[in-house]
Amino acid sequence: MRCLWLLISLLSVSVRSRELYERIGYFWHITDIHYDGHFNSYSDIRKGCWRPDYDGSSGTRAQRKPLGPYGDYSCDATWELIESAAKMMMTRQNDNVEFVLWTGDVLSHHATRHLKEDRQLEMVQNVTDLLRKTFSSQFVFPALGHDDPAARKELGRMWSQWLPTDAMRTFEMGGYYIIERKTLKLQIVVLNTNLMKKQDEDEDARKQWEWLDKVLEKFKKNGETVYLVGHIPPGSDERHKGLSTPSHIMYKDYHNQRYLKMVRKYHSIIVGQFFGHLHSDTFRVIYAENGRPISWAMLAPSITPKRTHDGPNNPGLRIYKFDKDTGQVFDYTQYYLDLSAANYNGKADWVVEYNFSTYYGINDITPLNLHSLADKFTQEATTDNSVFNKYYKANSVKIHNRASTNCDDTCAHTHYCAITRIDYEEHGQCLKIAASALSSSSSFLLHDAKTKLCLAGIVSVLANLSFRKLFE
Ligand SMILES: *[C@@H]1O[C@H](CO)[C@@H](O)[C@H](O)[C@H]1NC(C)=O
Ligand SMILES: *[C@@H]1O[C@H](CO)[C@@H](O)[C@H](O)[C@H]1NC(C)=O
Repeated sequence: MRCLWLLISLLSVSVRSRELYERIGYFWHITDIHYDGHFNSYSDIRKGCWRPDYDGSSGTRAQRKPLGPYGDYSCDATWELIESAAKMMMTRQNDNVEFVLWTGDVLSHHATRHLKEDRQLEMVQNVTDLLRKTFSSQFVFPALGHDDPAARKELGRMWSQWLPTDAMRTFEMGGYYIIERKTLKLQIVVLNTNLMKKQDEDEDARKQWEWLDKVLEKFKKNGETVYLVGHIPPGSDERHKGLSTPSHIMYKDYHNQRYLKMVRKYHSIIVGQFFGHLHSDTFRVIYAENGRPISWAMLAPSITPKRTHDGPNNPGLRIYKFDKDTGQVFDYTQYYLDLSAANYNGKADWVVEYNFSTYYGINDITPLNLHSLADKFTQEATTDNSVFNKYYKANSVKIHNRASTNCDDTCAHTHYCAITRIDYEEHGQCLKIAASALSSSSSFLLHDAKTKLCLAGIVSVLANLSFRKLFE
């Protein structure tokens, strides 16, 4: 009842929502393009498709099978695929797109291992040129991936139209930067997550931590808000099975702990964290020491379809809807390309895969809402869990579903642990707990949660209603 009353009184103040409407903007998040410059229809798919010397005259039948123009699930991205993605983004150019987050791994895995640096740079240059043409009036924020050339000076020069002098200085030094935005509250901090793999006492890594602490302190003092943006996310791979090998771990433990500490210290100003690297569609929730959800991270799927050890994915791209001033994230729309269909039809039809609010029935991306969503993954896992099924389908960009990969309760539980336990020790403990014993841990939050959900519901209902009126 109280909820209804609040709703009615809020509806009368429609002036406020018009202001909010004017602050709505969009930004793209693109990641893990993994351009394979040597890809052609006679490429050897067993060799990662990159071999320039393969003339198509030998090998097994599988090798000779001509590949489609938009690529193959065993291969990194063709130029045609990347171009089709750019073309699709062009079509939403009028929608108040404010900027683009581009979180690394521009090159194919094989290019960084086998090609000379000047060839690597040529490929990065070509992708950069394409993005420059696609986003002629927007800022692109590039972040370094581990499959990018090590030549930071050359990359800096290549990206100089996006990186002003101050940003260029720290980028060339350590691969991280901020571009201070004078008139808006939201500041974007781009991290070099390659440094999170370094030894505890690594000099460059230490400098980045000190720099990050300093800039966040300053933003906090100024009453500004922050996005943390990078290639590799903290925590663990949600698709990793079992604890036996350390490959599920993203950062070194020392850096993982420092990252967690940093987010806990500045969570009040961090309004979003954005990463790529895993090629999967998933998210993370970060908690305070006392268990309260205080921050979230979104992991966007890749443009390359290439099979990782966890299987392939369809190419994906994402656009976020947000408050241009404060950075508050409202929603996102996930686009994808059905690669098999695209090759079959000889035509790349990028379409909406889903949008967050309608798909999950959540009207605001908040730590609490994402915490509740993750909780459902295990609470209902023994039944035919529709929320987890939905998430799981999106996780591979519509390639897998639970039946096709035998994703049982343990599998659901593994996703849950990676999403809610960034700390490695806690993650390990979480994996050991039987799925059934788990669901009670969050009930102390219930009262607080209900209040907030009610408020969040009212605000977004109101927002949606009046936006539609303004629009239609
Ligand atoms: C890069 O673009 C140039 C100019 O269009 C082209 O000649 C070259 O083949 C491209 N290289 C790669 C590796 O894509
Ligand atoms: C998500 O879909 C709903 C319903 O189609 C639409 O009203 C909303 O604007 C969409 N969100 C985004 C971010 O496009």
